[in-house]
Amino acid sequence: MTQSLSCDIRDAGLATQGVKRIEWALREMPVLRELSARFSEQQPLKGIRISGCLHITTETANLACTLKAAGADVVLCASNPLSTQDDVAAALVKHYGIPVFAIRGESTEEYYQHINAALDHRPVLTMDDGADLVSEIHKSRTELIPGMLGGTEETTTGVIRLRAMAAEGALRFPIIAVNDALTKHFFDNRYGTGQSTLDGVIRATNILLAGKTFTVVGYGWCGRGIAMRAKGHGANVVVTEVDPLRALEAAMDGYRVMPLAEAAGLSDFIVTATGDKHVVDKVHLDVAKDGCVLANSGHFNVEINIPALEAMAVSKHRPRASVDVYTLGDGRRLCLLAEGRLVNLAAAEGHPSAVMDMSFANQVLCANYVASRDTRLENRVHNVPEDIDAEVAKLKLSSMGIQIDTLTEEQQQYLSSWQEGT
Ligand code: NAI
Repeated sequence: MTQSLSCDIRDAGLATQGVKRIEWALREMPVLRELSARFSEQQPLKGIRISGCLHITTETANLACTLKAAGADVVLCASNPLSTQDDVAAALVKHYGIPVFAIRGESTEEYYQHINAALDHRPVLTMDDGADLVSEIHKSRTELIPGMLGGTEETTTGVIRLRAMAAEGALRFPIIAVNDALTKHFFDNRYGTGQSTLDGVIRATNILLAGKTFTVVGYGWCGRGIAMRAKGHGANVVVTEVDPLRALEAAMDGYRVMPLAEAAGLSDFIVTATGDKHVVDKVHLDVAKDGCVLANSGHFNVEINIPALEAMAVSKHRPRASVDVYTLGDGRRLCLLAEGRLVNLAAAEGHPSAVMDMSFANQVLCANYVASRDTRLENRVHNVPEDIDAEVAKLKLSSMGIQIDTLTEEQQQYLSSWQEGT
């Protein structure tokens, strides 16, 4: 472990490998490259202290470098104990001069020590993935609040927590809900989680999906992507939902829809993506098929009732790195992946860079938006300004070499009038 006041990482010797992987990811991040070039001249974030609590991946490294290029003073800690890529953390510290407090497999106690180390940086802007920084500031680091310009939030669960804080009147600085940008959740949550969740399940188990029954719990942005990609592998996909509209959409997208209590007995795989607690509960574990693989792609490790699974098991063994096989009293075996933590980050590498390019372009532009204002935004959760969303879409299209049509003057007039009918 390499530990000093300015970092806590596994092994600085991993830096060279980390640099190679960060550079590889950057090849797929043209929008961030463009913003980095633009902002390194303008320096819009000069002197702005940013603490980021994000998954320490190659893509996050490129985000941090872009913020640094724009003049910001950035430090990072992990937003999940199992998602840190130790070589990336080493490269950030040794090669890019960005302090990191994150070690893959850190305990809960270390996780919060690292969050507090990142807060010792006295940020004026937070960048969260799950709202743990903002929550810690409000619970135990309130001295930082007067200096805060605001924060940004990367994921659905974080936005839900922050909106709950705002609704209670507890939120004491403004937040931009980056997750809710269309150029974020339409792509990151759907295509990013879709591909990387399947990647995690396959890397962890190497089980053929074709012909298997694969149940997706929750048909939100992430669930849609996971279902779509599982279908592409030839699995028979079942969707379970609590929202009638989403359930209807899943049925019309061609999936079987049924209650999880029914699906559990049929399923070779059950993957959760709800942001909700104990959606796979004891009642489902009681009837789950022998050999069923359980995985989660939602933000926290609460979606599968792991304490219930532990209590039902007579033994547990780990045949592969991210697989725990629980043998139950009646002889059935249930296979939990990545300790119920987001399987795409814990058992694979998280989202492909090309999709994080858009999410993190939103982060950079929103940081700039918060930092460049004359007056602080109101203390609530704000949407990403529409022009930022549109700019990210335009930059991404242009980087893909795709051109689109524009409205003619006649069409603009027609679309903004009501007089013309049949
Ligand atoms: P969403 O709000 O679009 O979808 C969640 C869905 O789950 C909703 O349709 C809801 O009705 C359903 N649901 C809630 N309780 C349920 C239950 N008991 N049974 C069945 N369905 C239930 O949210 P989104 O964007 O899909 O995010 C889901 C989770 O994934 C969040 O925790 C989010 O933070 C996380 N996330 C994870 C990523 C990753 O890299 N693994 C990336 C992006 C988001």
